[in-house]
Order: sequence, then C-alpha cells, then structure tokens
Amino acid sequence: MTETVAYEDAVDLLDADHKAVKKLFINFNALCEDNAPADQKQPIAQRICQELTVHAQIEEEIFYPQVREAIGDDALMDDALEEHNEAKQMIAKIQAMDASDEGYDAMVKALGTLIDHHVLNEREQIFLQARNAPLDLRGMVPELFARKKQLQAEAKPAASPRKKREAA
Ligand SMILES: [Fe+2]
Ligand SMILES: [Fe+2]
Repeated sequence: MTETVAYEDAVDLLDADHKAVKKLFINFNALCEDNAPADQKQPIAQRICQELTVHAQIEEEIFYPQVREAIGDDALMDDALEEHNEAKQMIAKIQAMDASDEGYDAMVKALGTLIDHHVLNEREQIFLQARNAPLDLRGMVPELFARKKQLQAEAKPAASPRKKREAA
C-alpha cells in the first residue's frame, strides 16, 4: 500500500485522476488535428472512457456520500451526480462506436468539454467545501486507492503490461 503515500489526501488523489485524463483529452485532440488514423485515436478514447468510469465510481461509492453528509449541500451533490450521468451516457455512446464513425471525434471532444466543466465544479465547490468540512480526507486515501485498483483490474484483465492481479 506504499503507493498511497504519494497522495496528500482524497482530493489530491481525485485531482490527480483529473489531470491524467486531461492529458489524454489533449492527446486525442492533437491526433484529430494531425488527421491521425482511427486506430490511433480509438485506444486513447477507450482509455479516457475507462479512466472516467472508474473515477466516477470511486467518487460515487466513497467520496461523494461522505462529503454530502459532512457539508449537507444536497443540491450541489445532486448536480455533480447529474453531470456524472451525462458523462456516462456519452461514454456509452463512444464505446458503442468505432473511431472511424462519423461524429466520433466530436463526441469525444464534447465529453472533454463536459468533463472540464465538471472538474471545475469539483475543484471550486466540492473539493473546497470538503477540505473545510470535518472529514478525514487523508484517511479516505487507502480506500479510494484500493477500490480504484480493483476496478481497473476488472476493466482490463489482460490489456495492461503491468502485473495482473490474480483473483484466484
Ligand atoms: Fe465527479
Ligand atoms: Fe472528479
């Protein structure tokens, strides 16, 4: 569990995800500008979808419920969940498409715009309030980290060169 030491607290861990996925969107946009072939764009888009799915799930399972209880702002948390649902619908559409399909690039870019907006909301409202609330954000790190690793392992059992976690 030494890797969890890299994160200051839950906000730090979640924002590291935001930064990683932002880089992937920038890569995707650069490929589009270069008129890169579909088989170069598709793996990036798939990774974006997969990372966002895992990220949203650990927020929804672990971070959001505790923040909601601590700050008592249901409207703010409901809005965030609504944005997650919008993102999930777009992710499902992207995953059902082929990168050579008409509208694929536009859909991935639209997802990027939605995520930019959502991340801004998290940074300026949810994260800020969470850090001012009586919450053990540091104590949340091991659980977030473990769940993230578990979900990633389930999502790509053989696609990663990193060592596989055998469930047997
Ligand atoms: Fe979120
Ligand atoms: Fe987030």
